[in-house]
Amino acid sequence: MKLLITGAKGQLGTELVRQATEHACIAVDCDELDITDAGAVSAFAAEAKPDVIINAAAWTAVDRAEENIGAAFAVNRDGPAHLAGACARLGVPLIHVSTDYVFDGSKQGAWVEDDPIAPLGVYGASKAAGEAMVREHCPQHLILRTSWVFSAHGNNFVKTMLRLGREREQLGVVADQFGKPTAASELARVILAILPDMGGHWGTYHLAQPEATHWHGFAEAIFDEARRQGMALRIRQLDAIATSDYPTLAQRPANSELLCKKLESTFGITIRPWRESLVEVVAELRQQD
Ligand SMILES: NC(=O)c1ccc[n+]([C@@H]2O[C@H](COP(=O)([O-])OP(=O)(O)OC[C@H]3O[C@@H](n4cnc5c(N)ncnc54)[C@H](OP(=O)(O)O)[C@@H]3O)[C@@H](O)[C@H]2O)c1
Repeated sequence: MKLLITGAKGQLGTELVRQATEHACIAVDCDELDITDAGAVSAFAAEAKPDVIINAAAWTAVDRAEENIGAAFAVNRDGPAHLAGACARLGVPLIHVSTDYVFDGSKQGAWVEDDPIAPLGVYGASKAAGEAMVREHCPQHLILRTSWVFSAHGNNFVKTMLRLGREREQLGVVADQFGKPTAASELARVILAILPDMGGHWGTYHLAQPEATHWHGFAEAIFDEARRQGMALRIRQLDAIATSDYPTLAQRPANSELLCKKLESTFGITIRPWRESLVEVVAELRQQD
């Protein structure tokens, strides 16, 4: 298939390009195709004539979104609207990636696709608006909500923890926000695996790796794995703290665990545990040292 991948230099975009070796890829980031530019998206898609567009472009800076509302909505709402329109004109599907932060975190237990959304911050609201645009403008769509994305490139929690773990002996990490860490590599693997079967299964799905944890539990796993692979760390004490002890501009959901049964049963796939992906990401980061 001919894939048009937007946001190709981000965490997910990089992994998609890396793994999509069986496909012809047109991989673009904002320097080549700014998805907020309606005319550019329309002209680029008409010229490229892809079989599918995979939108990995997004404004992902959750706290900065609070102070940059217009910019966050331009990328996360208007961008997907332009891509959805282009797909509809070409008669091809759009695979769009969304977030667990469309939920308010109040549910006991994992969120399912039909649960009511109620984002707490600008980032979540802009992504929710993007989902609505995709549904409205392009019937042939998959909206894949994911969470806590990490990889060996870009900015993410794993890289931040490893940096802090080298610099500091003591660290406090929030232990009352629950979710599912998800490697960009696994996201990309699953997206490419379901590509041939997506016809007729349009709609919204949750795609996150088992098992749920909190940020403190994830940090513990990161340090354990780094030590197991021989990384030198200064960190000796990892304290569990409350969200109220770590104020941020954006409020985050207390529980954003996504239930992924719909995706697994519809497409007959099994999502790997994030701990397996973490081993690979730490190994890749060690090679970069
Ligand atoms: N990261 C997470 O923890 C997380 C959690 C849940 C859901 N998600 C969703 O998962 C998807 C992939 O996230 P990710 O972590 O791979 O994101 P990422 O690493 O931040 O990559 C996003 C890419 O989009 C590019 N971009 C920004 N504005 C653009 C524009 N106007 N036109 C074209 N490209 C633009 C960015 O370029 P610049 O870097 O130059 O801005 C970057 O290369 C997104 O839809 C995100 O909302 C992410």
